[in-house]
Amino acid sequence: MDKQKPPAPGEDFRVAIVGAGNINFGSDEGPWNHSFRLEHKLGPRLKVTALIDPSEERARRVLKTKCDSFVLSAYKDTVVYPTAEAFLSALKPEERPHAIWVGSPPAFRGRVEEGRDLEEVLNKGLPGVPLFVEKPVSTGPVDQAFAVANMIENSNTLVSVGYMLRYLKVVQKMKQVLEENNLRVMAVNARYIMAYEYTAKLDWWDKTQNCGPIVEQATHFCDLSRYFAGEADLSTVMAHSVEHFEPAGQLSKIPVDESRIEPVNRIPRVTCATWKFDSGAVGSLTHCVALQGHNYSTELDVYADGHMLRLVDPYNAPILYFRRPGDDHEEIVRYQNDDPFFSEVSNFIDCIEHGSDAAPILSTYEDAVKTYALTWAIREASERTIKKPAQ
Ligand SMILES: NC(=O)c1ccc[n+]([C@@H]2O[C@H](COP(=O)([O-])OP(=O)(O)OC[C@H]3O[C@@H](n4cnc5c(N)ncnc54)[C@H](O)[C@@H]3O)[C@@H](O)[C@H]2O)c1
Repeated sequence: MDKQKPPAPGEDFRVAIVGAGNINFGSDEGPWNHSFRLEHKLGPRLKVTALIDPSEERARRVLKTKCDSFVLSAYKDTVVYPTAEAFLSALKPEERPHAIWVGSPPAFRGRVEEGRDLEEVLNKGLPGVPLFVEKPVSTGPVDQAFAVANMIENSNTLVSVGYMLRYLKVVQKMKQVLEENNLRVMAVNARYIMAYEYTAKLDWWDKTQNCGPIVEQATHFCDLSRYFAGEADLSTVMAHSVEHFEPAGQLSKIPVDESRIEPVNRIPRVTCATWKFDSGAVGSLTHCVALQGHNYSTELDVYADGHMLRLVDPYNAPILYFRRPGDDHEEIVRYQNDDPFFSEVSNFIDCIEHGSDAAPILSTYEDAVKTYALTWAIREASERTIKKPAQ
């Protein structure tokens, strides 16, 4: 980010932000923080005109931090609204935002039901205003998420979804190798071993709230698998899990009181899935809630004739180990100062300002819904094979 040209002064760029939580304003949990990237992309042009969050206290807290800092000019006139409807009814034409940044919980969006139909409400109230939307696109029925994708497509609205790993330079390098060598992917093998010791949000451990770790978390790797190998044939998905009641599913350092969650709603400790892509390639995913400490262990391998592309630790220190024909050794590719969160923000703003060809938007809404559908297919396949605990 520090290698970019500093943002130039110019016309105001008005942004309405939905959600005053971690993804938009940062936390100790990870490097995400969209407002920080917006500030660095737009500099003095950024004007956050609205912050929509039912928790007024949380919204005011994050605004105070901003107003106590050098980015005061972007936030000094921000108005807090409890709902999108309240924001829209107070909106004056001259305050029409250039973009809306959605980082509210997925339970309140991606559906057609009232109260969970944020995209439709925003699209009706502010037709054509571009939307940035966080993953996963919803927690509701997959067909409703496709209906929302349809609505967005018909309204011709520019939407970017926050599958930021697609923007990593190593991921782009992998795409380049596949394309330049005209390779047909044979298999994608994703391994996502999370560190659970400090995952202290009760909802994360409750499938009725966050839909479980495949839909909520491994979604990034399901998305990358699709990015490299194309559409998954959902009818082929098979999966097994290790559940909380099985001896192998006992975890010693869960930081929440799991007894507050109905047994049937507790998350699996392990999910192993395989499927075919429409291309004939095979996908596989192992997600494991197993490590303690802070760091996850994640890796995604792509195989093609004569080639192995091994993406290691894309969240923290992405490295590509890369083997090509005629050589038994693995080359190593890594890039300094690569911030995919900044790239996805930057590309989206460039498209809004200079037209949709100005920079690639790597995750459209419809594409993100297809990832959502794959994650549900994996979750449901694993649930079909659960052996119930002895009564
Ligand atoms: N791309 C990534 O790596 C990444 C990282 C973190 C979070 N996320 C995603 O971002 C989204 C938000 O996660 P988070 O960690 O910021 O959650 P969070 O719990 O920290 O914050 C959510 C905020 O939304 C507010 N909210 C609740 N209902 C709302 C509504 N109807 N309208 C507007 N605001 C509402 C809450 O009061 C809270 O302030 C999730 O979809 C999550 O998966 C993505």
